[in-house]
Amino acid sequence: MRLLFFLSGEFEELAKIEARTFLNVFRGNAEEEDTQILTGHCDNELTEYFHRFGLIHEVSRHLFSCSSLDELKELFKGIEIPAGRICVRVRNIGKRKVDSLKLERELGAILWRRGAEISVSKPDHIIRVYFSNQIHVGILLYKTDRKQFLMRRPDLKPFFRPGAILPRIARSLVNTAGVRSGIVLDPMCGTGTILVEAGLMGLDFIGIEAYRAIAEGCGVNLRYYNLPANVAIGDAKNMGLKNGSVDGIVTDFPYLQSTKSLGKIHELYSSALREFHRVLRENCRAVFLTNLDVDELVEEHFEIEYKLCQKLHKSLTRRIYVCRKKS
Ligand SMILES: C[S@@+](CC[C@H](N)C(=O)[O-])C[C@H]1O[C@@H](n2cnc3c(N)ncnc32)[C@H](O)[C@@H]1O
Repeated sequence: MRLLFFLSGEFEELAKIEARTFLNVFRGNAEEEDTQILTGHCDNELTEYFHRFGLIHEVSRHLFSCSSLDELKELFKGIEIPAGRICVRVRNIGKRKVDSLKLERELGAILWRRGAEISVSKPDHIIRVYFSNQIHVGILLYKTDRKQFLMRRPDLKPFFRPGAILPRIARSLVNTAGVRSGIVLDPMCGTGTILVEAGLMGLDFIGIEAYRAIAEGCGVNLRYYNLPANVAIGDAKNMGLKNGSVDGIVTDFPYLQSTKSLGKIHELYSSALREFHRVLRENCRAVFLTNLDVDELVEEHFEIEYKLCQKLHKSLTRRIYVCRKKS
């Protein structure tokens, strides 16, 4: 199946990695990229996992991409018309601006002349037209409910501590770890944002947290979403888990400014990364956030597949490391 992803513009680089990883997990590959757009192909089975999306806003069955309005109209005359009521929705991305309402009417008319039943209010199928640098067309398969992430904002959870990451980012990071089924470990789980998202995505999870009060609060948050309180008090540097027992690690290292950490920061990174390598299954990934550049320490045990930098404010640049276990 050929897919067309419409991605978040808030953190596009991460959204692209999330989409690419999704395709790879389902024996597919990314093909073309454009602003907030990625196309690729994969197994049909992927459809039942769409609900796991974090920074992927929509996915469509890709019909075609082209560069001009004339080409778009010409190609529209040849698209396969799905059975049922249809409507065309145009979306402008970035700088390119077309009159979307006018174009929706024009494109709808092309399909209507070909015998399609058009319904704007109750369509069975939506033909999505995205104006990025190129024009991309597909039949909408799934739209992520983005309100759910706002409802799970850290400050709306029963147990809150400042510094918790946003659920949509947490979810995207879990997807980026590329775990189709199995156990996701957050070895410094704090209030449990990553664990809650992993659990709601249908993955098994384990959380470890150094401080009893925070570990207990994390358990409260997990139970609030009807998830098991799989969280233990422990040390990320020495976790007591078996070798090769987890399928992905997703975590957020303590920031020096705002979170207490056990031991010195260098020791935390070097010991924790060694421990991550030990508990991860072969070929699996560790994805983590940090405010430090730790390439050398990471490279002792992992191959860095991606490193993203996001400036949050003057004194805080967040790094995201996506690493694969070296054998
Ligand atoms: C940046 S916070 C994690 C925030 C979390 N992602 C959330 O959404 O709440 C880092 C957490 O790691 C914990 N921590 C620090 N050092 C640790 C260690 N050595 N082992 C386990 N947890 C540790 C801190 O207590 C803190 O709760």
